[in-house]
Amino acid sequence: MPASEIDSDELEELEQAAEQEELEDADLQALIDEAEAAFPEERIKELKRSVQELGIRGWVQHHVIGKKFNIQHFLIAVGVLLPKELRDSDVPVEALVPVLKAVLIRLLRQRERLAQYNTPDDAVNLIKTARNIVVLTGAGISVSCGIPDFRSRDGIYASLAGKYDLDEPENMFDKEYFMQQPSVFFDFAHSIFPSNFKPSPSHRFIKLLEDKEKLLRNYTQNIDTLEKAAGITRVLHCHGSFATATCTDPACRHKVQGSEIKDAIFKQDVPQCRVCQKRKQDARSKQGRSKKQKTTGGASWKDQEDPDEEDDALPGLGVMKPDITFFGEKLDSSFENALNADRPHADLIIVMGTSLQVAPVAELLTYMPHRIPVILINKTPILHFQTDIMLLGSSDQVVQYLCTKLGWELPKPDPVKEAVGADSEAKKQELSRHRVAPAIVEPARFDQASYIWLWPDAEADTLRCAAQAESQSDDSEQGGNGGENPDKEEEEDTTPAGGNMDAAQ
Ligand code: OAD
Ligand code: ZN
Repeated sequence: MPASEIDSDELEELEQAAEQEELEDADLQALIDEAEAAFPEERIKELKRSVQELGIRGWVQHHVIGKKFNIQHFLIAVGVLLPKELRDSDVPVEALVPVLKAVLIRLLRQRERLAQYNTPDDAVNLIKTARNIVVLTGAGISVSCGIPDFRSRDGIYASLAGKYDLDEPENMFDKEYFMQQPSVFFDFAHSIFPSNFKPSPSHRFIKLLEDKEKLLRNYTQNIDTLEKAAGITRVLHCHGSFATATCTDPACRHKVQGSEIKDAIFKQDVPQCRVCQKRKQDARSKQGRSKKQKTTGGASWKDQEDPDEEDDALPGLGVMKPDITFFGEKLDSSFENALNADRPHADLIIVMGTSLQVAPVAELLTYMPHRIPVILINKTPILHFQTDIMLLGSSDQVVQYLCTKLGWELPKPDPVKEAVGADSEAKKQELSRHRVAPAIVEPARFDQASYIWLWPDAEADTLRCAAQAESQSDDSEQGGNGGENPDKEEEEDTTPAGGNMDAAQ
């Protein structure tokens, strides 16, 4: 949950610390016995079901607040060993709640696939009958518009590798790094600034869901604002966008429209905050006056405000940073508020064009009630979260297929709008080539798995490897039939490889 204060890695560290202590602590067994008596297996099952239904906040309100609920016993009963400092009976509840939340997230991640949904026809029927669809999107749906995604072979991170002297390509979007060296980001920013791009069929599919009054909300991680260009109104920009920019000085926080820093971005300059600049200028002239006076008076003026000292501060201070969420920055409360508002109403989740690597947005599937069916539309499979129907291929091709089966027509692309920024003719031509509607192609079923479907440009190698590994381990363990559920292997490995936007969420 965005409000949790420790992440899954920190939880694991706590457990490891506890394991090392275990042998020395004679009281532990007594505690385990007490915990099992307080939380028998059936009660634990019921509590696990209940967290899937109520979400973390609702669950804590329902079961913990104002109730006789022993958090230490509960944690031990679900198999979480606590280190001694958290096991004592006088440990304050505030110290245990972050651990409880992290454990609840872990329980929630264990979403089980809904076995009744398997085929593209099931997906079509789900979309037909749904009235409140949550669509979670990522960079993959804008790739056909000419904007690279982040983690693919030819994505932004691969293209950044070895450039700009970054330790990790992800540092390009790291707040701490930005504050040290804002010029690096502004050297690069022009290449991702919303430009002459047009929405893809995937964007237009979401718009169509909205037109048919089926869209509850589009949670987008994208900062390209193509949702807006497609006319989607029920959209939440979870990672912000270039639409506005804010001064990085916490004492200032001056905000401007993105268009105001556009020129600086295309000139690859670092856009400075006008308010901070004026303040510095005023301080300088004041200092100039004061210096004259003090010099005349012969006294020291060292204790006066020295604007040059300010210049020695972090180079990123007083810079207009586009309002996109960097690693190390918290998402604002709108994400959590939207989730809480949507969870009682959502009846279908479509995940499209995202690797689900970055928390907390990637955790959307864990926060939504697990009875809600999930359709994944993506070029590559996602193995660390369970989804119910996997439609793998280019999302444009898959949505064209779905529309045809639904008897729907995608809205036509908008006439050319005023473009922001510069783009070469060649690129424009390439983009318009991408805009041609792809042909309808029937998918092929992946091996024996009943719920994975491949379109021609699906990249299913990881799926094949996982299925092969599973079948080998089944063969060696039980001479089994293998290959049914390639997801299982990776289910536990949910640590976002790309890092958490904010580990404290
Ligand atoms: P990623 O690059 O991590 O994932 C994009 C996903 O889209 C991959 O799984 C691809 O297989 C898939 N994909 C690529 N082309 C596709 C196509 N034509 N059709 C369907 N799927 C396709 O991008 P995100 O998941 O969006 O944060 O990344 C999440 C966040 O990480 C971003 O918002 C960004 C980054 O750090 C910020 O910039 C603030
Ligand atoms: Zn400022």
